[in-house]
Amino acid sequence: MNDDAFKKRGVDYPVVMGERTLPGRYYHSQEIYEEELEKIFYRFWIYACRAEEIPEAGDYKVIEVGDESIILVRDKTGNIRALFNVCSHRGTQLCIKPAGNFKSKTIQCAYHAWTYTLEGKLIGAPLMKEGPGFKKADCTLPMAHVHNWEGFVFISLAEDPLPFEVQMEALMGKFKDWRMDELRIAHHIEYELNCNWKLILQNYQECYHCPGVHPLLSELTPFQSARHDYSKGAVIGGYMDITKERGSMTMDGEAAGPPVCNVSGDDLQRVYYYSLFPNMLLTPHPDFVMFHHIVPRGPGSISNNCYWLFHPDVIEDKKAQDRIKSAVDFWDLTNRQDWQVCEQMQVGTRSKRFGRGYYSSQEDILIALDKEVLKALGHELPE
Ligand code: FES
Ligand SMILES: [Fe+2]
Repeated sequence: MNDDAFKKRGVDYPVVMGERTLPGRYYHSQEIYEEELEKIFYRFWIYACRAEEIPEAGDYKVIEVGDESIILVRDKTGNIRALFNVCSHRGTQLCIKPAGNFKSKTIQCAYHAWTYTLEGKLIGAPLMKEGPGFKKADCTLPMAHVHNWEGFVFISLAEDPLPFEVQMEALMGKFKDWRMDELRIAHHIEYELNCNWKLILQNYQECYHCPGVHPLLSELTPFQSARHDYSKGAVIGGYMDITKERGSMTMDGEAAGPPVCNVSGDDLQRVYYYSLFPNMLLTPHPDFVMFHHIVPRGPGSISNNCYWLFHPDVIEDKKAQDRIKSAVDFWDLTNRQDWQVCEQMQVGTRSKRFGRGYYSSQEDILIALDKEVLKALGHELPE
C-alpha cells in the first residue's frame, strides 16, 4: 500500500502524531515478561472460561496462567470455583487432564491420595492424624476470585483484587442486548503463535493494516469507519460499520443468522471490537459473537483460543450450519492474515536496529493500550 492506494479508498494518508511505540525489548525480554505475569496476569481480572463449559456439578476445566495452573470447577451448589491446581501435601499438580468431570465429586491427588471436596476442603489424608502440627482445615486448596459476567467466567489471582466492576467499568451495561449468557459455543479454534501477547491486542485494536492485510474484511467494513468509544482503562474499544444492509462478517458478507436476542437499531450495522485487557478480545456482531482468549506462554509465544458464540436456536438448526461455517471461515482467514503480520513483527522488533516505532493517527488507541501496560508495570519511558 502507498499514499495513492489509501487516497483511492477515500482517506488521506494518516498524519504522524509524534507518538512512539513501545521499545522492542517489551516483546522479547524474559525479565519484562515475568514482571508482566506478576503485575498484570496475577493481579488483574482475566478471562478464564465460559460457564457453559462446566455446566454440571463436578465438571472442570484447567487453564494455565503463566506459571500457575487453575482448576475451574462447578461445585455441588452450582457455584464456580477457581482452585489452584496444587496439592497441599507436597505440592503435586492435582489434575493433569485439560477438562472433564470429577465423578466422585471429590478431587484426589494421584501421589498419596489426599482428597478434597469440589469446594477445595481437605477431607482425606491417609494415615495422617490431626494434632498441633497438622490440621485438615489449614490445608484447603488456595482459591482465586471468580466473577461471572454474561456467561464469561473471569478470575483474579490477586489476594485483594479491584472490584470487577471497577476494572471493567466500560463494560458495565454494555452489550446487554446480546444476552451473551444465553449464547453457546458453536465453534472453537486454538492457534499457537510465535509472538508476544501485546502484539495481538495491538493488532486487534487498529485497522490501519486492514486495506493491505485484509482485502475481504475491508470490503465488508471500510477501515475508515472505525470509531473508538472507550480509550482509557482496562477496557478499550470501538466499532466499525457493516456496509451491506443486514450483512455480517462472513465469506459472502450475508448475515450468519437472525440478530442475536435484542440487538436492534444501529447495532444491526456494526461490529464491535473490545479489548478486555489483558487477555480477552470481544467482538459482538449483530448475529453472533466472536472472542479470543489469549494465553501467554513466554515473551514470544502464546496460545490464542478463538470462539464463535451463536444463539442455541441457530446452533440446533441443521439448515443454519453453512452460515455458521461462513462466519468461522471468514474469521479463520482473517485471523491467519493477522497472525502472519504479528509473527513478522515479533521477528523484526528483535533487531538491534529497531528502537521505537511511530504511531499514525489511525493507531491512537494503541497509545492508550501501551499506557495501560506501562502503568501496570510502573514503568516510565522517556518522551
Ligand atoms: S502430594 Fe498430593 S497426596 Fe502427596
Ligand atoms: Fe487484522
